[in-house]
Amino acid sequence: MNIKTATTKPKRAQHSVAYVTLIEDSPTYIEKEGRDTRLVIGIPKAKHITLRHLQTIVRSIVRTAKKHKIEHIAFDADIFDFPSIQKEDVANVWSLITENLLLADYEFDTYRKEKVARVQNVHIYGALKKDAQKGITRGKTVGMYTNIARDIANTPGGDMTPALLAQEARKAAKNTSVRVRVLTKKQIEDLGMGALLGVARGSRIGPRFIIMEHWGAGKPRAQKQSKKSNAHDPVVFVGKGITFDTGGLSLKPSDGMLDMHLDMSGGAAVIGAVACAGKLNIKKNIIGLIPAAENAVSDESMRPGDVLKTISGKTIDVLNTDAEGRLVLADGLGYAKRYNPRLVVDVATLTGAALIALGTHASAVMSPEKRVYDTLATLGEKSGEYLWPFPLWEEYRQYTKGRFADVANIPASGNTRYAGVINAGMFLYNFVEGYSWAHIDMAPRMTANQSDCLAKGATGEPTRLLVRVAERYS
Ligand code: BES
Ligand code: ZN
Ligand code: ZN
Repeated sequence: MNIKTATTKPKRAQHSVAYVTLIEDSPTYIEKEGRDTRLVIGIPKAKHITLRHLQTIVRSIVRTAKKHKIEHIAFDADIFDFPSIQKEDVANVWSLITENLLLADYEFDTYRKEKVARVQNVHIYGALKKDAQKGITRGKTVGMYTNIARDIANTPGGDMTPALLAQEARKAAKNTSVRVRVLTKKQIEDLGMGALLGVARGSRIGPRFIIMEHWGAGKPRAQKQSKKSNAHDPVVFVGKGITFDTGGLSLKPSDGMLDMHLDMSGGAAVIGAVACAGKLNIKKNIIGLIPAAENAVSDESMRPGDVLKTISGKTIDVLNTDAEGRLVLADGLGYAKRYNPRLVVDVATLTGAALIALGTHASAVMSPEKRVYDTLATLGEKSGEYLWPFPLWEEYRQYTKGRFADVANIPASGNTRYAGVINAGMFLYNFVEGYSWAHIDMAPRMTANQSDCLAKGATGEPTRLLVRVAERYS
């Protein structure tokens, strides 16, 4: 999709163009007007329209065009001048519009002989302020990297091993300032990441620990573990990189396993966001860490009851091998400490319980610091990736106590079906040391739902949110 801007309505083009109109309380339809087309999108009352509506309106323009095999669309920049949108930051609004044009155009048809029709050109005409132009430019980059994250996430488990995921990280970082390092099994062993190794043990395909570094504010001279924070302290993103989750010996039922090639969606979002931060030349230090492994079944798989030792020295009772995401993240959070980070955000398709609690419209978020939670929730509202909070109260820590090890990966007693989202977050909290932290359980947003107006499969969330965190968090 090509997005172009011009001050005046395009003169007769060589091909037919669909001109977009938004009409309150109208059905959505198309109408021939000579050689061209009128693409009418029904919208709610203009005075009620918020950023949330804007996201779906933009998407439905593209989806409707695609449905009718329309390749060229054009609209006046002022069609989005709704009262409450005018109060928003212009650059953010136009970035959001552009991102969503690209997100709605995306299809995962790599594996199809017959490709799905896309929109080739979008002409935006009218008077666009400088900030709007800036937003459009930014939105093109952010949209592109979000779609890269979706491609990575959507790739079937048979074609996406930890080593291949690492290659994808290198590919995404090409032509950006991002440095990628990939630790192999031997290096992971030397570092003592026993939890990552435990998860990977059942698969002949070894684990990888992917490190992406964007030193946009300059590298700290000496990585002294000083208590005082300074401008060089990075924001670190840790993404769950389970390339396929069978559940391990605590095997998933067939239905529950179907989409588990998407269990590296957190890792994919981190890859997309850090590469994007590099491409946008964000003047901050941003690090991405992706512990990657396949959770497979074999005679070498870790067993329920096994004890794993993490990089931090804390040990874990593995009571259920299907709670593997929190295991690999424990080593990711432990490794993050080396950067003396100002903030660590982990992103993971961590629990089915998050889906039970929230349905498919928001990711769960947890942080011991209200300020951190507020920042993320506000940025999520701006990026169109919504977050809803769960508590990390001390009352819940008892459920993370180990039987014979320091902690257990599921409650050792009591009803293990209660508070699944919180137990997972509390487990991770045990591995957070010396930095501000938030956890995003994105299982609810792993795949698009009907009302998202997106192609089936990965949503690419929360790539756009992480980019905004990279830009804004201080
Ligand atoms: N990857 C799954 C969580 C998941 C389930 C994500 C469905 C998206 C959709 C995770 O590794 C897992 O299996 N979690 C278990 C935890 C349980 C054993 C405590 C779960 O949710 O059932
Ligand atoms: Zn699992
Ligand atoms: Zn999993």
